[in-house]
Amino acid sequence: MNLVFIGSGYVGLVSGVMFASLGHKVACLDHDKSKIDSLKNGEIPIYEPGLKDYLTKDLQFVTSYADIDFTPDAFFICVGTPSSDDGSANLDYVFEAALDIAKIYKDVPIIVKSTVPAGTSTRLQKFLKEKRYNNPTISNPEFLSEGRAVEDFLKPDRVIIGIGDDKHKALMDGIYQQFLDKCPLLYTSRESAELIKYSSNAFLAAKIAFLNEISNLCEKVGGNIDDVSKGVGLDHRIGDKFLKTGPGFGGSCFPKDILALQYLFAQSGASCLILDATIDSNAKRSRFIVDKIKSELGELLGKSIAVLGLTFKANTDDVRSSPAISITKLLLEEGAYISAYDPKGMENAKELLNIDMAKNYLEAAKGADAILILTEWDEFKNMDYSELAKGVLGKIIFDYRNILDSTKAREAGFIIHRLGRDN
Ligand code: UGA
Repeated sequence: MNLVFIGSGYVGLVSGVMFASLGHKVACLDHDKSKIDSLKNGEIPIYEPGLKDYLTKDLQFVTSYADIDFTPDAFFICVGTPSSDDGSANLDYVFEAALDIAKIYKDVPIIVKSTVPAGTSTRLQKFLKEKRYNNPTISNPEFLSEGRAVEDFLKPDRVIIGIGDDKHKALMDGIYQQFLDKCPLLYTSRESAELIKYSSNAFLAAKIAFLNEISNLCEKVGGNIDDVSKGVGLDHRIGDKFLKTGPGFGGSCFPKDILALQYLFAQSGASCLILDATIDSNAKRSRFIVDKIKSELGELLGKSIAVLGLTFKANTDDVRSSPAISITKLLLEEGAYISAYDPKGMENAKELLNIDMAKNYLEAAKGADAILILTEWDEFKNMDYSELAKGVLGKIIFDYRNILDSTKAREAGFIIHRLGRDN
């Protein structure tokens, strides 16, 4: 089929590249000329393992509709829906993109992949109709996660499609032809599809926040959070994913989407106490982490801390709403001196933090009073402890992703502090 993806950010780019690799004719459109130029040269502007291998020669990267050289069967809107000041999702880019499409391609279906509140796709169709355009809208939320997007795309748990008219099933079955015998294609109303996306992200966020609170309890009563998570996760009804304690959840999705869902509740005259608590719990997590460090090191003024990991999770260069960034900012406020290292996130972090960035973890740790691990990169799981020990001033590691081989680290003389466990 002939598909156009509007917005070459994370969702649009990964979806465009991957659908093209399955044999669809695809154009990716973005108004950012420098981004499109680098894509034309085969350079992927985000760090996403494996994605480059799926770039095909006939995939088109364009900055305007006039450059698309085929007749599209459908458009996917993949533009951002950032948080407004009141927490609601800002839908301006979605509506602008839809109007641009409708002005040129009057009846072509518009599929909304951007994460939008329930009711948006239906409202979008009405909005276009009022302007005398007949484009139907379809909701097809995205569930890819950064760092494993290729695998998530090829092996989805499910594909969710919200339609206002059954006649659009044929189009969507055609687009997702290769997935028909791989996973359920669940057809729902557009509102339900939009709610599935928000509910999934909010549920996962709540799962993490809950386990982080249980981790705090482990510290009080002497439990081991990693064992507790494992034991809880062995129950198939709960599942073993998203039970890992850490410095809090971040990224471009969970923090924004839970606020938008909270806003949607409020707008509907309802509330969700679990969601409120999830937001509150995660918001307090960075302060909690810094206070824990203070309880071990004392006042931080003048202390030197090596921060390892700046991205919101491993295998990405994304630092948006990264807990590592907010924790580092709090440490700086306390007067600590920070030297940081991240395998992929330092360029992006430089825009948010004015600190020394090191070439590697050994350089970051040189002369440090303590080391603080905030992202679960493989590189930090297998550090050379004897080399590390030679450079540091204080042999203390705050392993706040619980990833280290503590026996080896202790053999090299390090004291290890982890979350939710005392060994
Ligand atoms: C998330 C969802 O997982 C995707 O399904 C969804 O498509 C995407 O948002 C989106 O809405 O676009 P992503 O933001 O890439 O994906 O990141 P996750 O892997 O979900 O991690 C989010 C945060 O939770 C990270 O900060 C991570 O470190 C943290 N986390 C995750 C934990 O603290 N513990 C865990 O057990 C799992």
